[in-house]
Amino acid sequence: MADGKARLPPRWFIKTAWHVHRWIVRATGGRRGLWAPRPGKWGALRLTTTGRRSGEPRSVIVGYYEDGPNLVSMAMNGWGAAEPAWWLNLQADPQAVVELAGGVRREVLAGRAVGGERDRLWQRWRELDENLDSYAARRPCETAVVVLEPRAAGRLIADGKRMRAVVHDRYGPPSVLRLEDVERPEPEKDEVLVRVRATTVTRTDCGWRAAKPFFVRYFTGLHRPRQRILGMELAGEVEAVGAAVSEFKVGDQVFGVTGFGANAEFVCVRESAALAPRPATMSFEEAAAVCDGACIALAAILRADLRSGRTILVYGASGSIGTAAVQLAKHYEAEVTAVCNAKNVELVRSLGADRVIDYLQEDFTKNGERYDVIFDAVGKHSFRRCRGSLRAGGIYLETDLGFLWHVPPLALATRWIGDKRVALPIPKYTKENVRLLKELIEAGKYRAVIDRAYPLEHVVEATTYVETGQKTGNVVLTVNGEHTDSAQPS
Ligand SMILES: NC(=O)c1ccc[n+]([C@@H]2O[C@H](COP(=O)([O-])OP(=O)(O)OC[C@H]3O[C@@H](n4cnc5c(N)ncnc54)[C@H](OP(=O)(O)O)[C@@H]3O)[C@@H](O)[C@H]2O)c1
Repeated sequence: MADGKARLPPRWFIKTAWHVHRWIVRATGGRRGLWAPRPGKWGALRLTTTGRRSGEPRSVIVGYYEDGPNLVSMAMNGWGAAEPAWWLNLQADPQAVVELAGGVRREVLAGRAVGGERDRLWQRWRELDENLDSYAARRPCETAVVVLEPRAAGRLIADGKRMRAVVHDRYGPPSVLRLEDVERPEPEKDEVLVRVRATTVTRTDCGWRAAKPFFVRYFTGLHRPRQRILGMELAGEVEAVGAAVSEFKVGDQVFGVTGFGANAEFVCVRESAALAPRPATMSFEEAAAVCDGACIALAAILRADLRSGRTILVYGASGSIGTAAVQLAKHYEAEVTAVCNAKNVELVRSLGADRVIDYLQEDFTKNGERYDVIFDAVGKHSFRRCRGSLRAGGIYLETDLGFLWHVPPLALATRWIGDKRVALPIPKYTKENVRLLKELIEAGKYRAVIDRAYPLEHVVEATTYVETGQKTGNVVLTVNGEHTDSAQPS
């Protein structure tokens, strides 16, 4: 320190170290390279700002410490002379996102500390790095102390562009879900913005959240979920429409299914997607619980070519898909035998099943009955055990990939071998299907079975219940305390 200044490594070394650090964080999805501050040590976070020229997200790793709920960093570029780009970006747009060790993600608002506050925060950094003043003296301008304040719900909702949503930033158990104040989506020109009144937690949502089976990461992100907000089913009111939307107008009450994003106060849905006017005879809660199970069941039933005189056995008739399958099979005039637990026998009979078997009392594979179609609607049976109960030319329908994912190859093999087929129908979430369901509902031929309804805030509890695999029908999330016990005409 001959010149009275603390020594810094050469610039090329600092820059290489940054690149390597950034690469490690990116390659490990944030599991390495980010750490929390400890007593006497600063931490490292990833800060994503909006590029002031490009408008694109720009990420950088910066050091920080915690000051109450705020995160504090220094606007310096390895103590180089220039102002760091991330600080220039924040001065243009102070809204940013930080990622902390452990996959925690926070939306923040950045500001510069001034006066006595700056002195206090500077002093705290000095305690973490005794060379602070010496490094800062190398820079021609004052080094800004940057305070990253969490975006408080009340404050941000006040601007009308915020909403509450269930988010998750890493794959895992139901506890990775939490309610967060996030940016409200804006509809594109072919989209409608729906104010969600009710949504659901489905087995599909659980699969996305837990990344099970593993290959779902191909769609949702290898290391972390790209879609932060889950939820596929919804019922609500149109809040805004894009310029090219002609089918819906503000105030319309709608229901349907979308890929992600419905576990929130608002979601944008394409006009051409699986969205239709809410059935006049249904509440928002009921309407939200219609589409997923029914679209999956419909795919199976259409594959089985059900019609008058054909017989179908629905195994797992008390689940979301099972309750839908029983009703839709009756709509196609098939003769329906349903299999469920004793406690659900009356319910399933009320859905139209001609015969109900309590699986705890009777093993349908051993009673000598034969069916044209056997639909395992809960992924718990197998073709091997059921084939004796299928008629020649019969079809066995599955909802799951099965043990060691044997169902797809089996489906392929039975196209050429034997006289009984296996199929894993792929659901189609289309407007036509949702409109068909609306017609059936209004004609009194279809109803959604709801097991429990939770407020959106209780999403972890609701999800934990769904994952017991023992729900009867569907589990609903109500948004902003909406309880519409009686349906309003749409
Ligand atoms: N192919 C697809 O696109 C797709 C999409 C979503 C889900 N899935 C799969 O479809 C399956 C069903 O989904 P879901 O939402 O309808 O399920 P669900 O609602 O969670 O099913 C639960 C119901 O199944 C009954 N059940 C549980 N074990 C049973 C057994 N061994 N025998 C008979 N009934 C049983 C339960 O009643 P009791 O416990 O009282 O018997 C409960 O009523 C799941 O395996 C899921 O992974 C497939």
